[in-house]
Amino acid sequence: MKKALITGITGQDGSYLTELLIEKGYEVHGIVRRISTFNTKRIDYLFHSRHYNKKFFTHYGDLTDPNSINRLVLEIKPDEIYNLAAQSHVKVSFEIPNYTSQVDALGSLYVLEAVRNCCPECKVYQASTSEMFGGIKGEIPKEGYDENIPFHPRSPYGVSKLFGYWITRNYREAYDIFGSNGILFNHESPRRGETFVTRKITKWCGDYLANPWETPPLQLGNLNAYRDWGHAKDFVRAMWMILQAPQADDWVVSTGETYTVKDFVEKCFDWMGKEIHWEGEGINEVGIVDDKKVVSVNPKYFRPTEVDFLLGNSRKIREELGWKPEYSFKNLVEDMMENDSKNRE
Ligand code: NAP
Ligand code: GDD
Repeated sequence: MKKALITGITGQDGSYLTELLIEKGYEVHGIVRRISTFNTKRIDYLFHSRHYNKKFFTHYGDLTDPNSINRLVLEIKPDEIYNLAAQSHVKVSFEIPNYTSQVDALGSLYVLEAVRNCCPECKVYQASTSEMFGGIKGEIPKEGYDENIPFHPRSPYGVSKLFGYWITRNYREAYDIFGSNGILFNHESPRRGETFVTRKITKWCGDYLANPWETPPLQLGNLNAYRDWGHAKDFVRAMWMILQAPQADDWVVSTGETYTVKDFVEKCFDWMGKEIHWEGEGINEVGIVDDKKVVSVNPKYFRPTEVDFLLGNSRKIREELGWKPEYSFKNLVEDMMENDSKNRE
C-alpha cells in the first residue's frame, strides 16, 4: 500500500486530495497545525467514516518548524508528499509578507530537505501557482500562460511561491529528487475559503436568497480582474497524475477559459433566476437587481499590485498525461450555489 503525506490537509485541496488518494488505495497522513479553534472541519467526516478511518491519520506539525517536518517524514517514510500548506491569500500576503515567506518559501525548502535526508526516493508535489505569472496587461500571451512563459510575480505570496518553484527544480537537478511543480490556475469549490472572491459571492447569494430585502449589498474590490477558474476536484486529480508521470517535471493546470469577477456575479444571479445590470464606473460602479443596489465596490479590497488577467494553456498535461477538466464554469457555479443556498430558501 502506498503512503502519502499531505501538508495543508485541512485546506480545500487537501481535503479533496485525501478522498481521492484513499479511493486509490493509499494510506494517507496529513499535517495539521495547531491553532486556537478547530481547523479540521473539511476532513472531520473522514474520521467518522468506516471506509476512511483506518487509512487516514493526522499529525501535528507546522511548515515554519523544520524539526516537525523532518520528524514526520522520518517516521512515516511516505512514497509521495503533496506540499499544499501555505498562507494562500494574496491580499493578506501584503499585510504579513514575512510570515507568508516563511511558510510558502522556506516551508517548501524544509519539505525537500527532509526528503533529501530521510527518504530520497519519495516523490514531492509542490503547489505552485499561476500567481507567479503576474497577469500584467501587455505581457499576456495570446494562447495563455504555459510552462515556458517568464514569471513576474506581483505579491509577496507570488514571490514566495516562486522560491518554492525554483527550489523544487533545483533539488530535482542537484540531488535527482523526483520533485514536480503543478502550476495551478484558480480552482474553487463548495469547500473554498470564504474570503476568496468566488466563495464570498456564493455565500452572499445564499444570504440574499434567504432574505433579499434585508441583506446588505455585497462589497467587492476589482470587478474587472480575469481568472481561469476550475473545480478543485478536477485539479487534485491533476496533482496525483503529476506524481505518476514517468519523470519529474513542471505542469500548467488550467481550464483554458477566463472570466471576470463581474461574469461570476452575473452567473450566480442567473442561477437565482435574476438579472443584474451595472451602473457607474470605477469605485462608483454598482450592480442593480429589482431596482435595488446589490453589489458595490469597496477599495479596501484592492491590492497594491493586482494580477489583472489569468488564462492558462494546459496543452502539455492534456497531451502527455491525458488530464482534462470535467467541470465547466457553469457546473462550478452551480455546485457552489447549490451548496451555499441549502437550507436558506
Ligand atoms: P487553503 O484552503 O488556504 O489551505 C491551505 C492549507 O495550508 C490549510 O490546511 C492550512 O491550515 C495550511 N497551513 C497554512 N499555514 C500553515 C503552516 N504554517 N503550517 C502548516 N500548515 C499550514 O489553500 P488551497 O486552496 O487548498 O490551496 C492548496 C495549495 O495550493 C496552497 O499552497 C495554495 O497556495 C496553492 N494554490 C491554490 C490555488 C487555488 O486556486 N486554490 C491555485 C494555485 C495554487 P489551516 O486549515 O489551519 O489554515
Ligand atoms: N478575495 C477577494 N475579495 N478578491 C476580490 C474581491 C474580494 O472582495 N473583489 C475582487 N476580487 C478580485 C481580486 O482582486 C483578484 O483579482 C480576484 O478577485 C481573485 O481573488 P481571490 O479569489 O482572492 O484569488 P487570487 O486569484 O488572488 O488567488 C487565488 O488563486 C491563486 C492562483 O491564481 C488563491 O487561491 C491563491 O492561493 C492561488 O495561488
